[in-house]
Amino acid sequence: MGEFQQHLLTVLGSIVCLVFLVKSLRFLKYVFPYIRSTLPPSFFQSMGEWAVITGAGDGIGRAYSIELAKRGLNIVLISRTFQKMQRVALDIEQTTGQRVKIIQADFTKMDIYSDIEKSLQGLEVGILVNNVGMLQTSIPCHFLDATDNDQALINCNIMSVTQMTRIILKQMVPRQRGLILNISSAVGTFPCPLYAIYSASKAFGCTFSKALQAEYNTKGIIIQAVTPYSVSTPMTMWSKPNLINKTAEDFVRESLEYITLGDETFGCLAHEILARLVQCIPLQIFHSERVQNMLKDAISGRLKKNSNST
Ligand SMILES: NC(=O)c1ccc[n+]([C@@H]2O[C@H](COP(=O)([O-])OP(=O)(O)OC[C@H]3O[C@@H](n4cnc5c(N)ncnc54)[C@H](OP(=O)(O)O)[C@@H]3O)[C@@H](O)[C@H]2O)c1
Repeated sequence: MGEFQQHLLTVLGSIVCLVFLVKSLRFLKYVFPYIRSTLPPSFFQSMGEWAVITGAGDGIGRAYSIELAKRGLNIVLISRTFQKMQRVALDIEQTTGQRVKIIQADFTKMDIYSDIEKSLQGLEVGILVNNVGMLQTSIPCHFLDATDNDQALINCNIMSVTQMTRIILKQMVPRQRGLILNISSAVGTFPCPLYAIYSASKAFGCTFSKALQAEYNTKGIIIQAVTPYSVSTPMTMWSKPNLINKTAEDFVRESLEYITLGDETFGCLAHEILARLVQCIPLQIFHSERVQNMLKDAISGRLKKNSNST
């Protein structure tokens, strides 16, 4: 081998090692908050008096509501089923003593926002969690095999994010403080067949968050897209929690430690590691019909098993 080729290989090897080192160092930032909280205890309270959570009656939204109340904020619950919100409100009031306001709204509709804005008037909202979201169908299937609920899904997964952000952000900017979390999904970080419209709607959440963070980070506002893999909630038919499939409470507690780690996070260490492994699989493999069929059978089987046991 010539001297030039040896030099070339040495340089290439050094570049690969350097890239690997930088990636490992960047990954460490996800490990530290897992071991020990890096945020001061007053961090969330310092954003403002109230937190607003959409889709707060159950699952991840319910967990954000309770956790943020524990961290000293009063809570506005906005969701569809009044009785579920009443139960969450009672839970928060009894365990934390924080104040709770309930707003009943269906985010598949577009005529709800002026009422929501009126109900929020006079509240200093420091945190907005755009959590509400829906699947086209719980069982994965081809686009044409699902019923056409496109408009409802777009309203719920996309319009709710823009409209709620519009209402809240304009009162955060003059105060130069605020936190907006947009709960997207891991399937919003790549084109996911069999969940095409859901995946695309969640990609919107990521792109919108990142662009908005670039516009408002100098104004003291933190905007972050959270892209979980799997969390045990009604949406996943309460699939059994394990290392990857987190309980909503564990996921939310961990994701709140990641707030300052950039404009997009998978929300917990297990999902960060899983994402890095999934990113190594070429999309062509993931998009092949064989793998789609395998995934369809695996997910459908798991969901059907869960729905039978609940
Ligand atoms: N669970 C997961 O594995 C997972 C993974 C990635 C991303 N996500 C995302 O995380 C967010 C929360 O998911 P989740 O699993 O907690 O969902 P969930 O179990 O379905 O709970 C959603 C909550 O939102 C409410 N809701 C649903 N549709 C609504 C509507 N049209 N108007 C008002 N409220 C509505 C529900 O109200 P009711 O109480 O009336 O049903 C419920 O309280 C979603 O955006 C989802 O896409 C979830």
